[in-house]
Amino acid sequence: MELSDNCRFFPAQYSSIQVFKYSTFVPKVTFHYAGQVKTVEAQDGQTILQIALDNGIPMEHACGGNGFCTTCMCRVKEGMTHLSPRNEREENMGIVDDPERLGCQTEVQGDVEVELSDW
Ligand code: FES
Repeated sequence: MELSDNCRFFPAQYSSIQVFKYSTFVPKVTFHYAGQVKTVEAQDGQTILQIALDNGIPMEHACGGNGFCTTCMCRVKEGMTHLSPRNEREENMGIVDDPERLGCQTEVQGDVEVELSDW
C-alpha cells in the first residue's frame, strides 16, 4: 500500500514528513511594554528574551541572558502552561511564583502574552 492511499488531502508526491514540515505550529507572543502592545511569531523553543530582541522589542538583559540578574523578569498575562518549566537559575534568583518568569530562561512552546518590566 502506498502512503497516498491513506491520504486524500495531499497529492501522492508528498511524503508524510513533508506534510508535517509544512503544518508546524507557529507560536505567537504578545508583548506589553512601554505603553505599547506588539504580537510577533516565534520559533518553538526560543526564549522570551530571544523573541523580544529578534523583533526589536527593548528588553533588559544585563547579564547577557545567563540568568544572573533578573533585569529580564516579565509577568505572564496568558499562556503560562505554554512555557518551559521554571528552571534552577530562576529559582536561585528568587523568581519562584507565577506570574513572574525570567525572559532569558523561559522557552515558548505555544501562544503567550507577557508584560515587560519598566526599568
Ligand atoms: S538577562 Fe539576566 S537574568 Fe535574564
